[in-house]
Amino acid sequence: MKNQLTFFSKTLFFTAILLFLNQNLTAQSDKNAALKAKLDKMAVAIEPKVVAWRRDLHQNPELSNREFKTAEKVAKHLRDLKFDEVKTGVAKTGVVGILRGGKPGPVVALRADMDALPVAERVNIPFKSTVKTTFNDMETGVMHACGHDTHVAILMGTAEILSQVKSELPGTIVFIFQPAEEGAPKGETGGAGDMIKEGVLDNPKVETIFGLHINSQTPVGSIRYRPGGTMASSDRLSIKIKGKQTHGANPWSGVDPIVVGSQIIMGLQTVVSRMTPLNESAAVVTIGSFHAGIRGNIIPETATMEGTIRALDPKIQKQVHENIKRVVQNIAASAGAEAVCEIEIGNPVTFNNPELTKKMYPTLEEVAGEDNVRVSVPATGAEDFALYQEKIPGFFYFLGGMPKDKNPLEAAAHHTPDFYIDEGGFTIGVKSFCHLILDYAAKK
Ligand code: NI
Repeated sequence: MKNQLTFFSKTLFFTAILLFLNQNLTAQSDKNAALKAKLDKMAVAIEPKVVAWRRDLHQNPELSNREFKTAEKVAKHLRDLKFDEVKTGVAKTGVVGILRGGKPGPVVALRADMDALPVAERVNIPFKSTVKTTFNDMETGVMHACGHDTHVAILMGTAEILSQVKSELPGTIVFIFQPAEEGAPKGETGGAGDMIKEGVLDNPKVETIFGLHINSQTPVGSIRYRPGGTMASSDRLSIKIKGKQTHGANPWSGVDPIVVGSQIIMGLQTVVSRMTPLNESAAVVTIGSFHAGIRGNIIPETATMEGTIRALDPKIQKQVHENIKRVVQNIAASAGAEAVCEIEIGNPVTFNNPELTKKMYPTLEEVAGEDNVRVSVPATGAEDFALYQEKIPGFFYFLGGMPKDKNPLEAAAHHTPDFYIDEGGFTIGVKSFCHLILDYAAKK
């Protein structure tokens, strides 16, 4: 009898505890739900401002490490919002804003890149860029041809609405507005690597980072993500061939670096097609420039080539490098020429931490609707967001920016003069950042 009573009271006790815990959990998630609903309304309300900021940035694009006016606008915005801290001049033109929430929680970073590209815009829109500059000694237009203007505007909108609910926010949010994602100009450094060197992840110590990229070939309203290798590593390849100059009429008395260079380019085609295990992962080797000679009847002394190497797996990246060097050296040697082959390591693979991805993709589904969120194929483009992910777990996803009625195969690619973004997806972008902050803190 006594035992039975004890059993009965124990059961009652644990049931009570469970009920209490359950109620508490429900209260917690309800609270998040209420805050999310409030932020969702604010995200819709702020859309016209986000669009206006984006159009202003689009019309006034600035190249990598030259984002002076963009940075000024961002810093003023964060100061007006009474951010706890606003740091400027980080890695040249970077801006870092810190917003401390009123509730305890993790330190999480949100990142937007700010730079435009040396591309002359061909899209006929009222806020078309007419900016011109000199880049690599060439006259060129300047255009936000990768959509980084949309990233800045979306993060500015996120900053504005989150700052308005500061007291209800868990933890600390570090807003990173980063320069030079596309790569610093020759002779300079910049981008995520320099931001990290200057302590952007250290003070306060950032635990996790989120970032998004607009996509001109993904329909508005949808989101794409991928666990693990999402975007490729990107390394610069440069090859210098030294032959022997001679008269174009007597090739046998020299060593022709143009013919050797052509053989090397053909030889490099086999590095991917015949030496890389394509059933494991993709790779790309592209030669994008080949310079030699000055007139038709002179066989020149040298030829130079530049290219890019992409891989989605660090092991394959290393193999491709070794194979390129061997092919270049041996083809040059077979013709009696000399070749110097240099590979400059660039961005690593953009790698979405699988655990973090698993934890956070339901948030994207909540924001965009389950049917609108898909796992993407890996991209052979590169992203210096990868450098943050080398230091801390990070999650990078793609936001639809293509008009819904357009065929993705016909939509202009990034980095082209016809690149076009439909502004209808910005609100989902703002909502996604807000929900990720709340859900990450709640799921800790
Ligand atoms: Ni980009």
